[in-house]
Amino acid sequence: MAPVVASSPRLTLQVFSVPDHFEAYYELEMDPEVTKWSSNPPFKDKEEVLQKLNNRRPTPEKPWSQTWAICLKPEDPDVDEGSGKFVGAIGLPREIDVGYRISRAYWGKGFMTEALVMFVDMFWKLDDYAKYNRISAHADSENGASMRVMEKAGFKKGEYKKAFYERGAVPGVKLDLQEFYIERPTS
Ligand SMILES: CC(C)(COP(=O)(O)OP(=O)(O)OC[C@H]1O[C@@H](n2cnc3c(N)ncnc32)[C@H](O)[C@@H]1OP(=O)(O)O)[C@@H](O)C(=O)NCCC(=O)NCCS
Repeated sequence: MAPVVASSPRLTLQVFSVPDHFEAYYELEMDPEVTKWSSNPPFKDKEEVLQKLNNRRPTPEKPWSQTWAICLKPEDPDVDEGSGKFVGAIGLPREIDVGYRISRAYWGKGFMTEALVMFVDMFWKLDDYAKYNRISAHADSENGASMRVMEKAGFKKGEYKKAFYERGAVPGVKLDLQEFYIERPTS
C-alpha cells in the first residue's frame, strides 16, 4: 500500500503507485470530459497511459517531476488511511507547474479545492522543493471550473497567454491560457 504523504478532512495524497492506483487512473484518463483540456492527444490504450506516467517520474534531469494520487479517506478510523479509493491525480508535469484532475463522479463536491490546498501545503514542506518560492498553474481561458478551483485555493491570476496552446483533442486551433500562481508564505 502506497504511503500517505498528506491528508485533509476528506482526502489523502499518496505518491502514485502503479499497483495501487493505475486501474482507476486509466479509467480517469479514458474519460474525454476529464481530458478535454489536455494538450496531449487522447490515449489509445493502457500502454500509452503507462508511458505518460513513466515520463512523469523524477529523474536526474527532472527531479521535480512527480505524480500523486488523490484518494478518499476511509470513513472508518480503524481502517488504514492509505486504503482509500482513488478519485484523482495531481502532479508537476512541468517545473514548477501543477496540473490536476478528478473523476467525473466526484466533481462539484469541493474535492479538487481541498486536494489543491493540501498539495500546496505539503509542497512548501518538502525538502525536494525547498528552492521553489512559487507554484504556477495554467487553465484554458474557458475552463471555468479549474480557474475557480485555483481562486478558491488562494492562487492569483498571472499572465494571460493568448493563442498559446492546442488541445490534444482539437489540434490546429490555438487557444488562450490563463496563468495562476501562489507564493511561499513568509512566516
Ligand atoms: C476542474 C476540476 C478539477 C474541478 O474539480 P472539482 O472537484 O469539481 O472542483 P471543486 O468542487 O473543488 O470546485 C469547482 C468550482 O468550480 C465551479 N464551476 C464548475 N463549473 C464551472 C464553470 N463552467 N464555470 C465557472 N465555475 C464553475 C463550481 O461551482 C465550484 O465553485 P464553487 O465552490 O464556488 O461553487 C474537474 O472538473 C476536472 O477534473 N476537470 C477536468 C480536468 C481539468 O480541467 N483539470 C484542470 C486543468 S487546468
